[in-house]
Amino acid sequence: MAEFIPVGSFDIIIFGGTGDLSRRKLLPALYHRWADGQIPEDAKIIGVSRSEMDDTAFRKFAFDACCEAASESVNKTDWKKFEQHLHYVTMDATSPEADWGDLKHHLSDNSERPLVHYLAVTPKIYVAICESLGKAGLNQGNARVVLEKPIGTDLASAHEINEGVGAVFPEECIYRIDHYLGKETVQNLMVLRFANSLFEPLWNRTAIDHIQITVSEHYGVGDRAGYYDGSGALRDMVQNHLLQLLCLIAMEPPNSIDGDAIRTEKIKVLEALNPITPGEAREDTVRAQYVAGAVQGESVPGYLEELGHESATETFVAIKASIDNWRWARVPFYLRTGKRMKGRHSEIVVQFRETPHSMFGETEAQSNRLVINVQPDEGVQLYLQIKEPGPGGLRIKSLPLNLSYAANFSVRYPDAYERLLMDVVRGNLSLFMRREEVEAAWKWVDGLLAAWEQAELPMETYQAGLEDGPVEARLMLRRDGRDWWEAS
Ligand code: BG6
Repeated sequence: MAEFIPVGSFDIIIFGGTGDLSRRKLLPALYHRWADGQIPEDAKIIGVSRSEMDDTAFRKFAFDACCEAASESVNKTDWKKFEQHLHYVTMDATSPEADWGDLKHHLSDNSERPLVHYLAVTPKIYVAICESLGKAGLNQGNARVVLEKPIGTDLASAHEINEGVGAVFPEECIYRIDHYLGKETVQNLMVLRFANSLFEPLWNRTAIDHIQITVSEHYGVGDRAGYYDGSGALRDMVQNHLLQLLCLIAMEPPNSIDGDAIRTEKIKVLEALNPITPGEAREDTVRAQYVAGAVQGESVPGYLEELGHESATETFVAIKASIDNWRWARVPFYLRTGKRMKGRHSEIVVQFRETPHSMFGETEAQSNRLVINVQPDEGVQLYLQIKEPGPGGLRIKSLPLNLSYAANFSVRYPDAYERLLMDVVRGNLSLFMRREEVEAAWKWVDGLLAAWEQAELPMETYQAGLEDGPVEARLMLRRDGRDWWEAS
């Protein structure tokens, strides 16, 4: 049975309170934390946006959001209690003339009480909101600000945001969210690596042949086409989620679970990422767009048809990355992610080297492999070679030791935002990104974007819902004598 430690009293203001992130993730996450008894009686959740609304309408909006997000229906009696925490203020928080009176009226005067400003708005207005908060004196006391990804669209814009926000809030009060870090299996990566002495002696170039990180989605861009077309798979997924996974896999053991100890190790990995040159981009990267295909037998349009115009934005990317340090020299890290792939699965595959001597001759099976299923079937599998029972020769088979989360823990899987929101209130920065991390990741991604442009890298295609990316991504590994691990 999971144990929830209640957090102390707090106020949270959600800027963009009626937006998509608030509806799909933040309000349902806060409701679940309340339902588990983690949110105290006097906590306040205040939605802010320009839409005209009152508390009653916002509570209705939140109720619908929670019903939509929940697998079971939301209990109406419980809801009546929870909704007392919800308030709404209509205002344009970016305006220098904004009147903060109504909002302040909801807030406690206790400067010790955490005041969370959650910016669930476009990054273009992060700085303007923070400046207004500064002028209104709402950056004082125990105030903190949460920034959603993407933080900028390149290194220059990320730097500008970091400077602007940093002029109002000190770094230790800035929580940059990458929701992948709140996923249970992603947190488990650190436990797997550093609470088991078995792996560390093998976790390097001597024993590991290569590593694959796949985040594959079956959804198309849907109603986010406007945002997505200005971003693409590299900026939307690799710059943050995939590079964060890579950091957790590749970093040196931090000396403690403390936020700064972990983040310092992650930054070292990002800084050691080998820049990809235009020449390497042709061999070691693939970008592609989905064309019309089918999902569960139903035809679905291609990316350009959904968009309604021409576009050079990739919906799939595959990259062979490498880390220039002692531990990982010459170990490829193959990354791939795409929308409208054959299925939804995210996993990390650690492929160990072959045995040095093949005493079983032709019957020899594959080498060991550790598969970490991030989602949806959370778990870990360690593939070992065993002898198939029976007489008549010696046959070797590769079979997994299977650690399934579902089989071992009968708990509801909290959404990543539940954990992250409570960490903000507690003041725990471990699962948030430090400024240098975001900028180091952009530096590498900017280099790759420039290399693509110089190399005039072609845009490949794959059929929506029917393929796991374009054939060129398979050929990229085949050239190295390897294959992508395909989840069964
Ligand atoms: C978001 C991206 O950060 O992550 C989306 O902007 C993507 O494009 C989403 O779909 C994937 O998150 P999850 O938790 O569904 O794997």
